[in-house]
Amino acid sequence: MKNFTKDEKSRRLFLQYLAASPVLGIGAKDALAATAAELQDRPADPYVWKPYDPAYLIEKPEDALEVFEFEPVAHKNVPGAHWGFMSTGADGEGTYRANRQDISKFAIRSRRLRDVRNADPSREVFGTKYAMPFFLCPIGGQAMYHPDAEAGVARASGRHNVAQALSTLATCSTTDANKARNGNPVIFQLYQQANWEITKSIITRAERDGCRTMVVTVDGVSARKDMQFERAKRDDKRLCATCHEVRPGNPKSPMIVSKTRPQFSEVPAELWEQKVTPDKLTWEFLKRVRDFTKMEVLVKGIMDVEDAMMCVKLGYGVYISNHGGRNEDTSGSTIASLADIAPVVKGKVPILIDGGFRRGMDIVKAVAMGATMVGVGRPYLWGLGAFGEAGVEKVVQILKAEVLAAMQQVGAVSLKDLNPGMIHKAL
Ligand SMILES: Cc1cc2nc3c(=O)[nH]c(=O)nc-3n(C[C@H](O)[C@H](O)[C@H](O)COP(=O)(O)O)c2cc1C
Repeated sequence: MKNFTKDEKSRRLFLQYLAASPVLGIGAKDALAATAAELQDRPADPYVWKPYDPAYLIEKPEDALEVFEFEPVAHKNVPGAHWGFMSTGADGEGTYRANRQDISKFAIRSRRLRDVRNADPSREVFGTKYAMPFFLCPIGGQAMYHPDAEAGVARASGRHNVAQALSTLATCSTTDANKARNGNPVIFQLYQQANWEITKSIITRAERDGCRTMVVTVDGVSARKDMQFERAKRDDKRLCATCHEVRPGNPKSPMIVSKTRPQFSEVPAELWEQKVTPDKLTWEFLKRVRDFTKMEVLVKGIMDVEDAMMCVKLGYGVYISNHGGRNEDTSGSTIASLADIAPVVKGKVPILIDGGFRRGMDIVKAVAMGATMVGVGRPYLWGLGAFGEAGVEKVVQILKAEVLAAMQQVGAVSLKDLNPGMIHKAL
């Protein structure tokens, strides 16, 4: 049983008081769930000596000081079950927590006396130059957080030349996202389909729409167990079946039906009827994909050094990810994997990473450890859920300003100045 500090106790009492009052416009259960989750899950953010006040909700994007300030506003706006789907992790959520906690276990030693006034955070990956070494992770179904959805995210990130990865299950196709990004294409994220002909069709479309890079997600191989999401659904009294196709006999079990997502709208109708032996998700499948496409291929979901070495051997980019702690609860963080993987990859292929990155300094640390680009997931959904496109844009602006400041502060004129020699284990 955890011993709470005085500040934590008073915060807890305050949250319990809020839980009993309608002041926030959120239900008692929501507030109590927030109490429990925050006390267990968020040791570093926000700081315990200055508890984040959940009664204070920013009213407009410009008021946000950091990305965390979008979270409670999005929580208030987004329907409970959708919030549960987005914000939680698998099993006991150990991996979800570890991603964030472990970032603070690596420290960066600043270099001094360098002229950093014109520090340049731009990054080129596979021939495309972006303004920043961070990107917005592929996340499906963003219409469930705000009607601006992926197209709004595309406009907001495109304006800043910040990379956006677009999920196979997005509620916007690569055609529309790339138009919204104005000539600065998204990175396409591929989910393998049971029928190879359908997989080919969605890859072909992404390629035709101008995408030059594709990440193939390989970390979702079993049925996920996500109790917090199930509880959030219990508390949300709306009927899922009103908007979603649901599993037979379970009105609270929505199904993701690929066919209905825009990236599939050009798939020939007869392919859905074909009886096929479903494709297996293996290295052979990756080869098949690579032989088929002209896009550069990265493998998303790598956590282990040997898998990373396979990627290097076969010429795939490495994308270190555990799906934001949503698929497995091994408590292994992505940043700890990066520490092991970067030295064996030795810069031979690009390394992308995501999981728990919330501040500019988190991103700068990962770059120093060997990451080419750092993915940010839930924070931009908080911006989206809170204020739509304008919220996403502010999240991007905050992170841009923080990355630049962090680079300058540690003495980096360009990203090349960030190196593993600056990193040590925090005590
Ligand atoms: C609600 C939600 C949906 C996601 N959907 C996808 C997806 O469609 N494809 C994919 O490759 N990853 C998906 N992910 C994983 C993200 O790409 C990314 O790995 C993760 O969110 C990074 O962790 P972070 O949220 O802590 O930043 C999803 C994550 C969340 C939270």
